[in-house]
Amino acid sequence: MEAVSRTAQWTAAARALETERDDRLFADPYARTVADTIGFTLLERYAGAGTVPFLAIRTTYLDRAITRAVTERALRQVVFLAAGMDTRFHRLDWPDGVTVYELDRPALLDAKAELLADEPDPAGRRRHTVAVDLTGDWTGPLKEAGWRAEEPTLWVVEGLLFFLPETAVRGLLATLAGLSGPGSVLLGDVISRAALENPLSRPFLTALADDGNPWLFGTEDPEQLLTECGWAVREVRQPGEEGADFGRWPYPVPPRDVPRLPRSFLFTCDLPAGEEDPS
Ligand SMILES: C[S@@+](CC[C@H](N)C(=O)[O-])C[C@H]1O[C@@H](n2cnc3c(N)ncnc32)[C@H](O)[C@@H]1O
Repeated sequence: MEAVSRTAQWTAAARALETERDDRLFADPYARTVADTIGFTLLERYAGAGTVPFLAIRTTYLDRAITRAVTERALRQVVFLAAGMDTRFHRLDWPDGVTVYELDRPALLDAKAELLADEPDPAGRRRHTVAVDLTGDWTGPLKEAGWRAEEPTLWVVEGLLFFLPETAVRGLLATLAGLSGPGSVLLGDVISRAALENPLSRPFLTALADDGNPWLFGTEDPEQLLTECGWAVREVRQPGEEGADFGRWPYPVPPRDVPRLPRSFLFTCDLPAGEEDPS
């Protein structure tokens, strides 16, 4: 497995810890299995201010936004970009007829299949795993797996964008907007540029780089990034703000106009019906 794919076991380990709390926000009964020993080793190695509470908040924010998108907007195609060790296909209560596509590097998908080999697919839903490089041409394999451009899609890009160079981030977000039909939704997270330069995060950032998976991208203005890539931004939240706290964030939330602070952003975007390119 590539070094960057190991980080999927790190985030799974954080989900296991949340699951094992009495006051858990969500239950991911598979998290400890897919995290394996390495996930907990990395959780210690990458320990930093707010990592574990942030991952609990990110999971909860996205769980709820995903559930809203499939129930209220009736989306039936769900694509997890860089799915990693995400087990939402198994653990969320999906409506009948949902098809989930999990995209990631081939070795990660093989390792995940092995770790979850004993878990049957729940009834009423389908899943396709698609081995891709998301910095290359990944849309062909997605279409071959059965994804349909003419139907709206729920895209989830969680825990990926900071690993990519800016050109790849912009290319990916714009590709999603160009591929998707009206009514499609994009959910995900991104960090601030200052988070890449914060001296207090130096040990964490150095450990990531030493392990071969440096953080490369951040932006102070996720709204502008997403808009420039073709998305209508519905919501951007920092952990600790209303709708992205869930009783987990232990720090004050700095206002957005305070410059040069490390930040994480959770976002919800869509492509409103009627804005389709007629060509
Ligand atoms: C921090 S993990 C996030 C996994 C999952 N979304 C989560 O939040 O737990 C980063 C994931 O990005 C995947 N990844 C990184 N670069 C990629 C690329 N170029 N193509 C496909 N997947 C990639 C890794 O394999 C890994 O599974």
